Amino acid sequence: MNDKHLWHGRFSEAPADSLMAYTASIGFDVRLWRDDLAGSIAHAQMLGACGVLPVVDSEAIVAALQQVTAEFTAETFVFVPSDEDIHTAIERRVTEIAGAAGAKLHTGRSRNDQVATALRLFTKRELADTALRVFALIDVLDRRADDAGDAYLPGYTHMQRAQPVLLSHHLRAHAWALTRDIDRLLGARTRLDVSPLGAGALAGTSLPIDARDTQQRLGFADVFANSLDAVSDRDFVAEGLFALTLVGVHLSRLGEEWVLWTSEEFGFATLSDRHATGSSMLPQKKNADIAELARGKAGRIIGNLTGVLATLKGLPLAYNRDLQEDKEPLFDSLDQVNRGLSAMTEMIAAATLHTATMQRAADAPALVATDVAEWLVARGMPFRTAHAKVGELVSRSLSSGTPLVDLVRADGALGADAAVLFAPGAAVQRRSSHGAAGPLAAAAQRDELHRVMALLQSRLP
Ligand code: ARG
Repeated sequence: MNDKHLWHGRFSEAPADSLMAYTASIGFDVRLWRDDLAGSIAHAQMLGACGVLPVVDSEAIVAALQQVTAEFTAETFVFVPSDEDIHTAIERRVTEIAGAAGAKLHTGRSRNDQVATALRLFTKRELADTALRVFALIDVLDRRADDAGDAYLPGYTHMQRAQPVLLSHHLRAHAWALTRDIDRLLGARTRLDVSPLGAGALAGTSLPIDARDTQQRLGFADVFANSLDAVSDRDFVAEGLFALTLVGVHLSRLGEEWVLWTSEEFGFATLSDRHATGSSMLPQKKNADIAELARGKAGRIIGNLTGVLATLKGLPLAYNRDLQEDKEPLFDSLDQVNRGLSAMTEMIAAATLHTATMQRAADAPALVATDVAEWLVARGMPFRTAHAKVGELVSRSLSSGTPLVDLVRADGALGADAAVLFAPGAAVQRRSSHGAAGPLAAAAQRDELHRVMALLQSRLP
């Protein structure tokens, strides 16, 4: 049976090399071996339990599947050229081991429901694993936020210095985005938790199989309702990819920030030697390659999502071979996002933050302009009038070279009381509204983040 193809009965010629080279998926779907074996063991047990197969056959198949599991675990499984995908390879080997009984494994089953089952089991496990890695990054950001104490840095809009913010506030801003990522990964995981096994090729089977039985053996929360939908639904791949893509986009934004922070122009952070790279020609260089690749790899991660959506669009019911194109993008996005999470988490944990440089940048007088306007508002001046008045002072300071604080002190409506706002760190102290960037709001936000983190942790499997 080694060199025979699954469909050899209907065909008088073996598949062309070009067909195999183009259509075989063993090169990548070998990654599903564990999940394909789990699906096959559940299927064989169900066939025995339902009386579709004699129990001796069912037991012989399960024993053979267990032997194959041991071979994969020990990395001694031997592939042959006709193994076009992992499902074919495993069934071929089971038949070698169990003989006539092995030839009964595929009873009431198609590779179409088989592959959907394996991929759901795989994705269910992997999305939880990625969520765990996102959690580790949140944890590091949160710890670095605690270490930052009352340190502050400029907050930016349009990449122009805008207002001072606590460093802890800035770090936790990224943490909040990542909490939503975990929620999304786990939400996608909940929705994919449906067994497609028992749908057959597209329409079910005349044999008395029990789809509920395999669903429960495999630990799926529910079973499919419609066989056509079960074998053609790859929403879970698209949705999983979207959740991963947003993690990738968040890593990219974080990466861009660290590229800037570690530049000499900013000087806000220095990477550990272990998490930076040198130059082959320029002896002085210390580059943030992890951060740059976190930014760069977002391109292909987005490509993987849009690629799968494009593959799905326009596909008629039910299974089409196009669906084989779901795997490589999913595997690649998982790999890239997981590696990016690990590398960025370590990089941020090990970096040195230069809070004195940050604070010097944040103490630039212009960053107090809004507080001066708000000081006037608190004394009854309409905001638009105050905005224009302070704007004029900023303009005069720029054209005359007189420090803004001196103009404020000399101004009749402002004076020495308002000039106090220019004391280093004074402006950040005043950011006290809900969720704001100052120390008063920071404590409440820290508590809230910890509450959400505990909640997410309780949802992780
Ligand atoms: N390797 C295939 C895939 O990934 C398995 C299913 C093939 N089914 C078929 N009828 N050709 O989709």
